[in-house]
Amino acid sequence: MEFTIKAGSPEKLQHNCVVVGAYAGARLSPAAQILDQASGGLITSALQSGDLDEKAGACLMLRTLPGVASSRVLLVSLGKAEALNDKAYRDAVSAAARQLAGVAAPEVLFCLAEAELPKRDLAWKLAEATTLLQDSTFRSDWLKSKREESPKGARQVSFLVPDASDATLQGALTRGQALAEGLALTKTLGNLPGNICTPAYLADSAKQLGKEYKGKIKVEILDQAEIEELGMGGLLAVAQGSMQEPRFIVLQYKGGKGKTAPVVLVGKGITFDTGGISLKPGEGMDEMKYDMGGAASVLGTFKAIAAMELPLHVVGLIPAAENMPGGNAIKPGDIVTSMSGQTIEILNTDAEGRLILCDALTYAERFEPACVVDVATLTGACIIALGNLTSGLLANDDALAAELLASGQEAGDKAWQLPLWDEYQDMLKSNFADIPNIGSKGAGTITAACFLSRFTKAYTWAHLDVAGTAWKSGADKGATGRPVPLLTRFLMNRAGV
Ligand code: BES
Ligand code: MN
Ligand code: ZN
Repeated sequence: MEFTIKAGSPEKLQHNCVVVGAYAGARLSPAAQILDQASGGLITSALQSGDLDEKAGACLMLRTLPGVASSRVLLVSLGKAEALNDKAYRDAVSAAARQLAGVAAPEVLFCLAEAELPKRDLAWKLAEATTLLQDSTFRSDWLKSKREESPKGARQVSFLVPDASDATLQGALTRGQALAEGLALTKTLGNLPGNICTPAYLADSAKQLGKEYKGKIKVEILDQAEIEELGMGGLLAVAQGSMQEPRFIVLQYKGGKGKTAPVVLVGKGITFDTGGISLKPGEGMDEMKYDMGGAASVLGTFKAIAAMELPLHVVGLIPAAENMPGGNAIKPGDIVTSMSGQTIEILNTDAEGRLILCDALTYAERFEPACVVDVATLTGACIIALGNLTSGLLANDDALAAELLASGQEAGDKAWQLPLWDEYQDMLKSNFADIPNIGSKGAGTITAACFLSRFTKAYTWAHLDVAGTAWKSGADKGATGRPVPLLTRFLMNRAGV
């Protein structure tokens, strides 16, 4: 999809479809008002006869309005004007995208960004719409033998703006599209099955990204021998039950000038989680292919920020392994030594994420980071606590937590903070090693973060548990791309754009 900005009168600009908004109570947005006047009140009469539901996102397609140059007008409900918020705006844009996908209207004039959204400027609304429209074309049917080629849908979207020479608005489109590209990479990787997306495959994807953004993203892959050399006993322990060798992926994006402390992003890269010897039940186990969602979100975020050319130094760390039962697999009770030197009693082999993350968190120290944010599909308990709408956030620094929470709000990719109080640390006690890999009963998301916190003493750190948000179950199951919007917004804010 191509995006541009355009100024002019909406009734005179000729496209295959003009998309305009209407509020509840037959109140028209400015562009809709102009089309209504040009057509002698046809829009108003359609609304007054109740043809458009008042709920945000309802749509009504009108054809050949007299006085309107475009052949179609797509009327989209924005809901009650006084209740207009980010969600209503996104719902309206997404609904318009769905309608457009089914119509042979390649050239679209899109006027929903004029919606009067409290606290959001035009650039925000344009970037958001760009991402949503582009993202609506994402498909996951590349492994079907017969793919449906749809010639329909929007190809060229022009956003109606007051001033088409405004460089900020042009920049908003570029950033919106960059985020959509990052999302697409993350979703593609998350949807790939475990027999294709192995640790080696994740490493190749990172290399590919390095090639695509040559000179901007540097990629280094550590193999089994190098991981042994580093003493990453946690990562090695998880990998030892699998035929797939682990990888440790290091990405560096240097957009800024001079030497600045980097933001380090760490992503859990379990390419399939069977649970290991502490085997998971069979039902829905296929979904554990997305246990590398954290890793995929780090790669997607790198893609987005590189496409945006953010002036920032960011490091990405991805420990990648497959968690399998097997003759050589770790067993409950096994004790291993992490890279930090701390010994870990593995009481449940299904708590493998923290075992690979702890070594990555220790490795992060060498970058003297400004802060470290890890992303992981870490606990089923987080889904119990927050469902599929909100990511769990835990941090050893409240300012960093607040920054991430605000970024999530801005990006429509929300997180909620859970406590990481010292009292919870007492739930992690081992008779035989420094630390067990599971806590006593209850507060599973918090005890998982407590475990990680034992390896993050050297820097400011936050942890995002995306077990519930990175994946959608049910009829249209698949990766969501979260938390790429949150992370990208966080980095944009740090870069001051
Ligand atoms: N990958 C899972 C967490 C998960 C569960 C993600 C469901 C997405 C959906 C993780 O490795 C795991 O198995 N965690 C265990 C920890 C427990 C053994 C302490 C869990 O949550 O059950
Ligand atoms: Mn597990
Ligand atoms: Zn897991």
